[in-house]
Amino acid sequence: MRSVRKEIEFTEYDSIDQLNSSDSALLASAIEIAHTAYAPYSNFKVGAAILLKNGEVVIGNNQENIAYPSGLCAERVAIFHAGATHPNEPIETIAIYAESHTIPVDSPISPCGACRQVIMEYRHKQSTPIRVILKPQQGNIWVFKCVSDLLPYAFDLKGLKKQN
Ligand code: THU
Repeated sequence: MRSVRKEIEFTEYDSIDQLNSSDSALLASAIEIAHTAYAPYSNFKVGAAILLKNGEVVIGNNQENIAYPSGLCAERVAIFHAGATHPNEPIETIAIYAESHTIPVDSPISPCGACRQVIMEYRHKQSTPIRVILKPQQGNIWVFKCVSDLLPYAFDLKGLKKQN
Protein backbone atom coordinates (compact mmCIF):
# COMPACT_ATOMS: atom_id res chain seq x y z
CA MET A 1 0.00 0.00 0.00
CA ARG A 2 1.16 3.56 -0.56
CA SER A 3 -0.37 6.99 -0.40
CA VAL A 4 -0.16 9.26 -3.40
CA ARG A 5 -0.20 13.01 -3.17
CA LYS A 6 -0.93 15.27 -6.12
CA GLU A 7 -0.22 18.96 -5.94
CA ILE A 8 -1.85 21.67 -8.01
CA GLU A 9 0.12 24.74 -8.94
CA PHE A 10 -1.15 28.06 -10.24
CA THR A 11 0.11 31.62 -10.39
CA GLU A 12 -1.72 34.41 -8.62
CA TYR A 13 -1.72 38.02 -9.80
CA ASP A 14 -3.07 41.05 -7.97
CA SER A 15 -4.24 42.85 -11.05
CA ILE A 16 -4.73 42.58 -14.78
CA ASP A 17 -1.78 44.96 -15.32
CA GLN A 18 0.60 42.27 -14.10
CA LEU A 19 -0.36 39.91 -16.91
CA ASN A 20 1.46 39.91 -20.23
CA SER A 21 -0.21 41.82 -23.05
CA SER A 22 -1.66 38.71 -24.70
CA ASP A 23 -3.29 37.46 -21.47
CA SER A 24 -4.59 40.88 -20.46
CA ALA A 25 -6.13 41.40 -23.93
CA LEU A 26 -7.79 37.98 -23.72
CA LEU A 27 -9.15 38.75 -20.27
CA ALA A 28 -10.44 42.09 -21.53
CA SER A 29 -12.42 40.17 -24.19
CA ALA A 30 -13.86 37.87 -21.49
CA ILE A 31 -14.87 40.89 -19.39
CA GLU A 32 -16.50 42.60 -22.34
CA ILE A 33 -18.52 39.57 -23.40
CA ALA A 34 -19.65 38.91 -19.80
CA HIS A 35 -21.59 42.17 -19.93
CA THR A 36 -23.89 40.78 -22.63
CA ALA A 37 -24.51 37.40 -20.98
CA TYR A 38 -28.17 36.37 -20.85
CA ALA A 39 -28.57 35.74 -17.13
CA PRO A 40 -32.01 37.03 -16.07
CA TYR A 41 -32.48 34.24 -13.49
CA SER A 42 -29.15 34.30 -11.64
CA ASN A 43 -27.95 37.83 -12.45
CA PHE A 44 -24.55 36.16 -12.51
CA LYS A 45 -22.78 37.01 -15.73
CA VAL A 46 -19.83 35.03 -17.00
CA GLY A 47 -17.66 35.67 -20.04
CA ALA A 48 -15.13 33.34 -21.64
CA ALA A 49 -12.57 34.19 -24.31
CA ILE A 50 -10.47 31.58 -26.06
CA LEU A 51 -7.16 32.26 -27.75
CA LEU A 52 -6.48 29.91 -30.65
CA LYS A 53 -3.03 29.02 -31.93
CA ASN A 54 -3.59 31.11 -35.06
CA GLY A 55 -4.13 34.19 -32.85
CA GLU A 56 -7.90 34.39 -33.30
CA VAL A 57 -10.10 34.93 -30.24
CA VAL A 58 -13.43 33.12 -29.86
CA ILE A 59 -15.88 34.28 -27.20
CA GLY A 60 -18.92 33.07 -25.29
CA ASN A 61 -21.09 33.97 -22.31
CA ASN A 62 -23.67 32.18 -20.21
CA GLN A 63 -27.10 31.74 -21.74
CA GLU A 64 -29.87 30.94 -19.28
CA ASN A 65 -33.31 29.50 -19.86
CA ILE A 66 -36.59 29.50 -17.97
CA ALA A 67 -36.23 25.70 -17.91
CA TYR A 68 -33.00 26.04 -15.94
CA PRO A 69 -31.00 23.00 -17.15
CA SER A 70 -31.53 24.09 -20.76
CA GLY A 71 -29.15 27.02 -20.27
CA LEU A 72 -25.41 26.76 -20.79
CA CYS A 73 -22.30 28.10 -19.04
CA ALA A 74 -20.06 30.66 -20.72
CA GLU A 75 -17.15 28.23 -20.96
CA ARG A 76 -19.12 25.68 -22.95
CA VAL A 77 -20.72 28.32 -25.18
CA ALA A 78 -17.20 29.57 -26.00
CA ILE A 79 -15.55 26.19 -26.42
CA PHE A 80 -18.34 24.80 -28.60
CA HIS A 81 -18.19 28.02 -30.60
CA ALA A 82 -14.45 27.39 -31.13
CA GLY A 83 -15.04 23.71 -31.93
CA ALA A 84 -17.73 24.60 -34.46
CA THR A 85 -15.92 27.39 -36.25
CA HIS A 86 -12.26 26.29 -35.91
CA PRO A 87 -12.39 22.49 -35.56
CA ASN A 88 -8.70 21.92 -36.27
CA GLU A 89 -7.16 24.94 -34.56
CA PRO A 90 -5.49 24.17 -31.22
CA ILE A 91 -6.67 26.14 -28.20
CA GLU A 92 -3.94 27.93 -26.26
CA THR A 93 -5.75 29.71 -23.44
CA ILE A 94 -9.23 30.24 -22.05
CA ALA A 95 -9.89 33.33 -19.93
CA ILE A 96 -12.96 33.33 -17.68
CA TYR A 97 -14.50 36.30 -15.88
CA ALA A 98 -17.60 36.53 -13.67
CA GLU A 99 -19.59 39.46 -12.28
CA SER A 100 -22.84 40.16 -10.49
CA HIS A 101 -24.66 43.23 -9.26
CA THR A 102 -26.50 41.27 -6.57
CA ILE A 103 -23.75 39.26 -4.86
CA PRO A 104 -20.04 39.94 -4.32
CA VAL A 105 -17.80 38.06 -6.74
CA ASP A 106 -14.48 38.48 -4.98
CA SER A 107 -12.68 35.22 -5.59
CA PRO A 108 -11.92 33.45 -8.87
CA ILE A 109 -14.90 31.58 -10.29
CA SER A 110 -13.65 28.28 -11.51
CA PRO A 111 -15.48 26.32 -14.19
CA CYS A 112 -18.13 23.79 -13.12
CA GLY A 113 -17.40 20.08 -13.45
CA ALA A 114 -19.23 19.74 -16.76
CA CYS A 115 -17.26 22.62 -18.28
CA ARG A 116 -13.96 21.17 -17.03
CA GLN A 117 -14.87 17.86 -18.65
CA VAL A 118 -15.74 19.57 -21.94
CA ILE A 119 -12.53 21.64 -21.98
CA MET A 120 -10.58 18.43 -21.23
CA GLU A 121 -12.07 16.81 -24.34
CA TYR A 122 -10.44 19.53 -26.44
CA ARG A 123 -7.22 19.12 -24.47
CA HIS A 124 -7.16 15.44 -25.39
CA LYS A 125 -7.89 16.32 -29.02
CA GLN A 126 -4.71 18.39 -29.27
CA SER A 127 -1.13 17.76 -28.19
CA THR A 128 -0.60 21.02 -26.31
CA PRO A 129 -1.89 22.25 -22.92
CA ILE A 130 -4.86 24.61 -22.57
CA ARG A 131 -4.02 27.39 -20.12
CA VAL A 132 -6.82 28.73 -17.90
CA ILE A 133 -7.07 32.31 -16.58
CA LEU A 134 -9.69 33.05 -13.92
CA LYS A 135 -10.72 36.52 -12.85
CA PRO A 136 -13.48 37.51 -10.42
CA GLN A 137 -15.16 40.91 -10.54
CA GLN A 138 -12.91 41.98 -7.67
CA GLY A 139 -9.89 40.13 -6.40
CA ASN A 140 -6.92 38.15 -7.53
CA ILE A 141 -6.38 36.47 -10.87
CA TRP A 142 -5.36 32.83 -11.08
CA VAL A 143 -3.49 31.33 -14.02
CA PHE A 144 -3.28 27.56 -14.46
CA LYS A 145 -0.79 26.01 -16.88
CA CYS A 146 -3.36 23.51 -18.09
CA VAL A 147 -7.03 22.65 -17.64
CA SER A 148 -5.87 19.20 -16.45
CA ASP A 149 -4.77 20.93 -13.22
CA LEU A 150 -8.46 21.68 -12.62
CA LEU A 151 -9.55 18.13 -13.44
CA PRO A 152 -6.89 15.71 -12.22
CA TYR A 153 -7.44 12.06 -13.12
CA ALA A 154 -9.96 13.00 -15.80
CA PHE A 155 -11.61 10.11 -17.57
CA ASP A 156 -9.66 9.16 -20.67
CA LEU A 157 -9.80 5.83 -22.43
CA LYS A 158 -7.89 5.85 -25.69
CA GLY A 159 -9.62 2.77 -27.09
CA LEU A 160 -13.02 4.43 -26.81
CA LYS A 161 -12.35 6.81 -29.67
CA LYS A 162 -13.10 5.25 -33.04
CA GLN A 163 -10.21 5.66 -35.47
CA ASN A 164 -11.42 7.02 -38.82
N1 THU B 1 -21.93 29.77 -14.90
C1 THU B 1 -21.04 29.88 -15.92
O1 THU B 1 -21.36 30.39 -16.99
N2 THU B 1 -19.79 29.43 -15.71
C2 THU B 1 -19.32 28.92 -14.54
O2 THU B 1 -18.16 28.56 -14.45
C3 THU B 1 -20.21 28.79 -13.39
C4 THU B 1 -21.63 29.15 -13.63
C5 THU B 1 -23.28 30.29 -15.11
C6 THU B 1 -24.38 29.29 -15.19
C7 THU B 1 -25.57 30.12 -14.77
O3 THU B 1 -26.03 30.84 -15.90
C8 THU B 1 -24.99 31.12 -13.79
O4 THU B 1 -23.59 31.14 -14.03
C9 THU B 1 -25.24 30.78 -12.32
O5 THU B 1 -24.84 29.50 -12.04
